[in-house]
Amino acid sequence: MLPQAIEAWQRAAVVPGNPSSMHWAGRQARRLLDDARDVIAQHLEVESSAVIFTSGGTEANNLCLAGVLTGNRGKVVISAIEHPSVLNTAKALCAHQQCELVLIAADTQGVIDADKMCAAIDADTVLVSLMLANNETGVIQPVAAVGAHCRQLGVPFHVDAVQGLGKLAVTLEALQADFLTASGHKIGGSKGTGVLVQRRGSRLSGWMHGGGQERKRRSGTENVAGAASFAAALQYCDFSACQNVRDYFESLLITQMPDVVIHGQQASRLGNTSCFSVPGMDGETLLMQLDLAGFAVASGSACSSGKREPSHVLRAMGVDDTLARASLRVSFGPEHDKNDAEALLQSLLHTRKVLQRMAAGSL
Ligand SMILES: Cc1ncc(COP(=O)(O)O)c(C=O)c1O
Repeated sequence: MLPQAIEAWQRAAVVPGNPSSMHWAGRQARRLLDDARDVIAQHLEVESSAVIFTSGGTEANNLCLAGVLTGNRGKVVISAIEHPSVLNTAKALCAHQQCELVLIAADTQGVIDADKMCAAIDADTVLVSLMLANNETGVIQPVAAVGAHCRQLGVPFHVDAVQGLGKLAVTLEALQADFLTASGHKIGGSKGTGVLVQRRGSRLSGWMHGGGQERKRRSGTENVAGAASFAAALQYCDFSACQNVRDYFESLLITQMPDVVIHGQQASRLGNTSCFSVPGMDGETLLMQLDLAGFAVASGSACSSGKREPSHVLRAMGVDDTLARASLRVSFGPEHDKNDAEALLQSLLHTRKVLQRMAAGSL
């Protein structure tokens, strides 16, 4: 968490009131929640009532898909590289409601072809969802082009902007979106805090029925401290230095391991993400060795680690299963510098040498 987000969290955590209560303590909590809502709304250039607080990006994605599809039957068009909180939710809801689910594959660089996606959208389509940037490769998607087409046809368009917020210029209008998902912990806020942003005039059924909080769209007492930390993080996060470090790391990687495959290298990517495969290696084994050396990297998607299935994102890019299993994902933060990039590379080279010697039986 960013220091400013910790401070905002601590200040809000000691306010005893429930934001729905009428008394002075409740009003204090309500003010903190409203202030956080205003900051997020201003950033995304929407009115404050558009912002719905949730327990994170996963819940915001579920709220959007369930809230749009309730009582609706037709075609749902999403990309095949969505985060599981969109992909698996769409699969479950479509099976339950007998909707047709259309998955759009990526090209070899991990980019969804906007024309292909638009061609799949027709009068029967009830929802389209495309992420702003992929969580495994960092590859940025042609969201505005798909959004413009959806607007022409009057089809609701959702953007999972969890990875892009704070790193790319993100407003609802620029993305031509009706719904947008964001998560606090990706930008230095506390974990377990997210928002779904709803464009005025779009239709969304409520979620988690109960006390009717968040204008009846998401019942449950709001996480006031989490919301305050999210807003503070949005004001202070700065990922601008990450790209230099990531590019330096990849230049070392290519020089020292010429057989490495960097996924999405030719595409526009977020500046902090590097996803690569080390041929002949198992990503999970590399991950465990790097973990022992103090590095926290992911193999495939962090959200699905523990599973032995190769990454669905790399598969959708046409990467074969062996190479996909050899993949690692490194995310650089504002706290990293070139020394960290060098240390990681040295550790990776050492690990590969040890594993190769073990495989050859000489250790
Ligand atoms: C693109 C994307 N969407 C959704 C999520 C889920 O967000 P949360 O962890 O806040 O539930 C993640 C988490 O990594 C993500 O990367």
